[in-house]
Amino acid sequence: MAENNSSSLMEKVISLSKQRGFVFQSSEIYGGLKSAYDYGPLGVELKRNIMNEWWRSMVHEREDVIGIDASIIMHTKVWQASGHLAGFSDPLVDCLISKERFRADKAPRPQPKDELPIECADKGQAKTYVEAIQKRFNIELKRNGKTLYGMKVIDENTMGFFPDDSDKPTETFPYRGYVSPTFGSPFLSDERQFNLMFRSQIGPIDVLGDITAYVEKNKELDGKDLRTGIEGIVKKSAVYLRPETAQAMFVQFLNCQQSMSMKVPFGIAQMGKSFRNEVTVEHFIFRSCEFEQMEMEFFVEPGTQKEWLDYWRDRRMEWWQKLANDPSKFRYRAHEKDELAHYADACYDIEYEYPWGFDELEGVASRTDYDLKKHAEHSGAKLSYFDQQKQDPETGKNGWRYTPYVIEPAAGVTRGLLVYLLDAYHEETVPNADGEDSSRVVMKLHPRLAPIKVAVLPLVKKEGLPEIAREMVSGFFKAGINARYDEQHSIGKRYRRHDEAGTPYCITIDGQTTEDGTVTIRDRDTMEQERISKDEALQVVQKRLIES
Ligand code: GAP
Repeated sequence: MAENNSSSLMEKVISLSKQRGFVFQSSEIYGGLKSAYDYGPLGVELKRNIMNEWWRSMVHEREDVIGIDASIIMHTKVWQASGHLAGFSDPLVDCLISKERFRADKAPRPQPKDELPIECADKGQAKTYVEAIQKRFNIELKRNGKTLYGMKVIDENTMGFFPDDSDKPTETFPYRGYVSPTFGSPFLSDERQFNLMFRSQIGPIDVLGDITAYVEKNKELDGKDLRTGIEGIVKKSAVYLRPETAQAMFVQFLNCQQSMSMKVPFGIAQMGKSFRNEVTVEHFIFRSCEFEQMEMEFFVEPGTQKEWLDYWRDRRMEWWQKLANDPSKFRYRAHEKDELAHYADACYDIEYEYPWGFDELEGVASRTDYDLKKHAEHSGAKLSYFDQQKQDPETGKNGWRYTPYVIEPAAGVTRGLLVYLLDAYHEETVPNADGEDSSRVVMKLHPRLAPIKVAVLPLVKKEGLPEIAREMVSGFFKAGINARYDEQHSIGKRYRRHDEAGTPYCITIDGQTTEDGTVTIRDRDTMEQERISKDEALQVVQKRLIES
């Protein structure tokens, strides 16, 4: 395989995604909607195949896991209990010069005596920023190419302007303790809380009308009191789009456990859309505002969480690796103590080596009994489990009622789709029909993930070949295998098209088919062609898919 330059790999995958119909920018003809993506004809199949594989391995193949499909809009009290309404917010800051918005808790933190250079994108931008800073703060920073100099940290609350290498500042300004991540700008706004959940209103309520009436009636109120009053009106009918699929599994714990007579340890799984008003959307579909998750809450006896955490970390890692070409690109990362979410006592990230480095693909968290206890407290429901076979460790009596602990493998579907596109992308030099070197792009998607499993290609559009091909395609459909009839362009172009689509098998119907009933089956990765009986084609493809 030709060496993939890692930064251009991302560009190539984005470009191929559009050309071949995997992923499109949302509302592209209107200029596109930032951070929203549409999954095209091949992308929708790939996404569903990833989800189906996950469901098969997490639900169908396990006696101890059951599934649900809950509503996206849930009772607002769910988000109060889970802490999302209070805590699903980040301290946000704007750079007053570049207007860059970022999370204060993730920003670089220069220390006293450190210089505060502002790194602009280019010289033109540097000139503009010098002027903007002069206008707003009345100081003229020195410019060297695209970098602006002159600011230094004095102490944890103060920074100064030090022109001409002097050791005394001519001006001082409040210092926030950090700078903007992209430019290093210390000229920042106050921190503001920002809720990551998308809010909407439910019911036939005229919220704007109510707000207008309230404002008219309370003209004498100051801004803060007016805002509090308006918040009260909005909150009455406010609902939120779920920011994770997890909470429904806690809220429906009792219904699921009782309706299916499940015994701890057992899990509840769900896949579906989640929404987060992300501050930073980045790396194509890696982080977007609307995305899909595949999550499972596995309820275990208190004290057994460590062994179950290791168990699920390993199962999930195996699953990702099994469907990839290069298992070495996946690794675990244990969370440091100060990184753990408030509800977790341990957590691993399964990371993938993206073109920008290792980053999260799935989290496997030990969430303690936090969620069930919180929902029990807020709802009054008894979200506990009674094990008749066990002794209560406190009383020593037979029968133990406890709140189960939870292990949660939480994966992103759309992030997984990006991983499998990156893993599949290969450029190869291969001989063409005349034996000369030619290059091909081939998406080596696992056959079970491939959008189209088999393409059936009549060599020519006559002599009865299309009829044979179409009959074969309908045989594949009857067997539940996604096949595609394709007669456009030369056979070589059709092979290349299906290489780019990731189609693992191409079956060609040619003149010999009408004579002896055989067809050729071409393997996408080896490009080897084999003559097989037309009547056996379905079994051959079925067998290869099962064994893949
Ligand atoms: N219930 C726990 C939970 O939601 P998370 O780490 O916030 O945990 C789990 O999300 C997974 O969902 C992540 O590992 C990632 O794959 C995916 N994910 C989270 N936010 C995302 C976003 N904005 N865009 C795409 N995928 C996202």
